[in-house]
Amino acid sequence: MSEKPWGGRFESPTDEFVEAFNASTDVDARMYAEDIAGSKAHAKMLCEQGILMQEDLNVILRGLDEIAGEIESGEFTFTIALEDVHMNIESRLTEKIGDAGKRLHTARSRNDQVTTDTRLYLRRRTDAMIARIRYLQSVLVTLAEEHAETIMPGFTHLQTAQPVTLGHHLLAYVEMFERDAGRFHDARKRMNQCPLGSAALAGTTFPIDRHMTSKTLGFDAPTANSLDAVSDRDYIMELLAAASICAVHLSRFSEELILWMSAQFGFIDLPDAFCTGSSIMPQKKNPDMPELVRGKSGRIIGGLVAILTTVKGLPLAYNKDMQEDKTAVFDAFDNLEGSLRIFGDMLPDMTVNKDVMHKAASSGFATATDLADALVRAGVPFREAHAIVGKSVAYCIRESIELHTMDDQACADIDQRLSADMVRALSVEACVASRNHIGGTAPEQVRKQTAAWQSRLEKYHV
Ligand code: ARG
Repeated sequence: MSEKPWGGRFESPTDEFVEAFNASTDVDARMYAEDIAGSKAHAKMLCEQGILMQEDLNVILRGLDEIAGEIESGEFTFTIALEDVHMNIESRLTEKIGDAGKRLHTARSRNDQVTTDTRLYLRRRTDAMIARIRYLQSVLVTLAEEHAETIMPGFTHLQTAQPVTLGHHLLAYVEMFERDAGRFHDARKRMNQCPLGSAALAGTTFPIDRHMTSKTLGFDAPTANSLDAVSDRDYIMELLAAASICAVHLSRFSEELILWMSAQFGFIDLPDAFCTGSSIMPQKKNPDMPELVRGKSGRIIGGLVAILTTVKGLPLAYNKDMQEDKTAVFDAFDNLEGSLRIFGDMLPDMTVNKDVMHKAASSGFATATDLADALVRAGVPFREAHAIVGKSVAYCIRESIELHTMDDQACADIDQRLSADMVRALSVEACVASRNHIGGTAPEQVRKQTAAWQSRLEKYHV
């Protein structure tokens, strides 16, 4: 009746639409290399334990290698009738080598197989993600060093607050990406346990060697509880959480680049190769890449919400709902990796309009805190100094002047303790240079940080 590998107890065929709806090949075919590696490790272990004959092992290994070749050369056709990557490969193996192929699934279930494949696949993708993050960090460190002395306004509430250096601003993102890489590292460590041998849910009656498969596949250890192993999707949640946070960092960065490139800011220009035009407004040059990266964060966060919601109500152990896990995490990984790549490629060619940034930092009373600090150094209590400078700012707004151009009379009218010497000493250069301590914005600190980052990132070969 049915040609399904599980068709024995069925009397009528699967509904045609159910077949399509049930299939996961469009999503899981990309794990073919991991599926084959897992099958090879499993078959070798079965043979070592006397569960599979050497002749069978030899043909299985050869058959699996040939199938890998067929998939890579595009000869292999995945069929939805065989549901997923696992049954497509197993069925082709049997087609090629006959009975030996039918023995491969001894002491195994698709339930331990799928989560082994997914862990292997995501482990590889996680390493690639970390490498992308490292590359972007190194691009940012190079830029930060170049702009250790480039002065721009720092903002709070998006209002001019105090002058900062662009290098300092860029290094803020290096810190965020460092935490992101750390989260991926942590998740990778925890997920690196081998579920193979858990079989459907309870383990198997065969004398398997779980240490052997675990070791062959580069896992740190076999998982300790078969029920947990086949139903655990924590690693997908963790990876999606790490991906979401990283995407949020990229999204904030994107937002700044978009603002900075607007005519109103005019701080930067992004390279043409990363922008597009408008089909109606000939003058337009739009920062599409940061906009799209900002947008991608939405679907990546969506993936995290999807996996949490999917697993939330599931009883132990495997449930078909779990097939939805891969869609979310693969999509998130593709889009995050792409976003990191765009940023790493785009930023080195960004034009920085230093003059515009400097001018913006020099207006908007960004030096007001430093004037208050100068009064404090002359013995005025900070709260009083704050009020004196507040009045000075109000005066300057009325007169359309800047703090450092106030004359002796204007200073004395506001407060006897305020002097023209004090306001004349105000400069954005002095403002940044004087914040010269760990974590401060001074060019000297930025250079110390970039030097430290360069040696830390060196070991990642970027
Ligand atoms: N395609 C399935 C998935 O991705 C594989 C495991 C199916 N197991 C089962 N007993 N139906 O989750």
